[in-house]
Amino acid sequence: MEFDLYIKQGRLVRPSGTLRAGILVKDGRVAGLVSGNEKPAALRVIDASGKYILPGLVDVHVHFRTPGLTYKEDFPSGSRAAVYGGVTTVIDMPNVIPPTTGVGALRRKLGEAAAGSWVDFGLMAALTSGNIKALEGLAAAGAAGFKLFLDEVSGFLAPPRGESLKAALKIIAGTGLCCAVHAEEGPLIAARVARLKKEGRLDPPAHRESRPVGVEAEAIRRVADRARETGVRLHICHLSSGPGAEEVQRAKARAADITAETAPHYLLLDSAMMGRSGSLFKVNPPLRAAAHREALWAAISEGVVKIIASDHAPHTPEEKTKDNIWKAASGFCGVETLLPLMLTAVNEGRLSLNQLVALVAENPARRFNFYPRKGVIAKGADADFTIVDLEREKIIRAEELHSRSKVTPFDGYRIKGLPVATILRGRVVMENGILCGEPGGSFIRPVI
Ligand code: DOR
Ligand code: ZN
Ligand code: ZN
Repeated sequence: MEFDLYIKQGRLVRPSGTLRAGILVKDGRVAGLVSGNEKPAALRVIDASGKYILPGLVDVHVHFRTPGLTYKEDFPSGSRAAVYGGVTTVIDMPNVIPPTTGVGALRRKLGEAAAGSWVDFGLMAALTSGNIKALEGLAAAGAAGFKLFLDEVSGFLAPPRGESLKAALKIIAGTGLCCAVHAEEGPLIAARVARLKKEGRLDPPAHRESRPVGVEAEAIRRVADRARETGVRLHICHLSSGPGAEEVQRAKARAADITAETAPHYLLLDSAMMGRSGSLFKVNPPLRAAAHREALWAAISEGVVKIIASDHAPHTPEEKTKDNIWKAASGFCGVETLLPLMLTAVNEGRLSLNQLVALVAENPARRFNFYPRKGVIAKGADADFTIVDLEREKIIRAEELHSRSKVTPFDGYRIKGLPVATILRGRVVMENGILCGEPGGSFIRPVI
């Protein structure tokens, strides 16, 4: 048999260990692994000597802004940035216009995304106070899960509360999908914002003060209790604090089906680093004091946090740069820098490459029901890889990002470890910093 692709001489990284093996690809899937001595016939051979081969990253938290907010980002630009960052599968969030609250909106978004995506993608639907009747239909239409924004104070995507939240989580439990939660309590935030505004506060620290760690911990505690009562598979997005991690741990000990993700900015940055460009660093939840960073690293090594995702949330420089912190948009780019930043952490000895593969590929694919098609290099899996050079160094420059809105808190950050090639279902889509081929990403349905 002639194979489509043979990647030879690489070091293949799995959570359980690293092995020297060649990878054979046929029809977009891994056809088998071979030892170094064999010489299989293939249309294309890539020599990965000196490099590591990781499964393509599965970033379970991006905002590519399609439809309705495409002046910030869209699927072609966001997914291009993903490919540069070694990410081959994303899960996109539903806070777009129109929001993904019903089957019609999901189908419309799917069509627009599929027309220009460089990566495979799943789509989250929203869980709001108004769409409980639509949840089962959304699951049947292929939603990757449901996103609940507990921090919502404006009314856009307002969450159900009390008994109706419980009823909704019961329905989601029946679908087998995850309910992913932005865990900050809206009413607590609203009261603080009102007080701070009354005091005339417009400075960046005021935003952080409006969302202290207790607001996160309280939200996790409450929603985890509902998860235990309903049996729903709960996923806490962008965990940012030590007390938040303790609540996840507590819920686990009480047998809630709960996982948590954190993001590079919570692991590597802290509030003291915000300096004069404070509004560029505005994100929800906010950056914390340095001690929380260490608590999150500890939560990773203890297995309390099993997923790292980018929360790629681009806004234009104008939207991000405001003298009045309440008027600045929250969030920034992340999908392209996720892997380089974490490889730098590997080089610094904070975690192993094997642990990293679990955190950014295998665990996210498992939790969102894309495994074993995604997240693993094994026979039969999609041939999605990122080839990594752990020695390559670079300085992150905001203006060099491939997103439409080039804002990152990591501008000027020195990294060591870069993806040098990205392969999606057997096709090379990025090689040595050059985009190749065409956007051939597909919608992926979770398999329950
Ligand atoms: O900072 C954030 N930005 N946090 C969120 O939860 C939403 C996101 C966005 O969509 O911009
Ligand atoms: Zn969020
Ligand atoms: Zn988000």
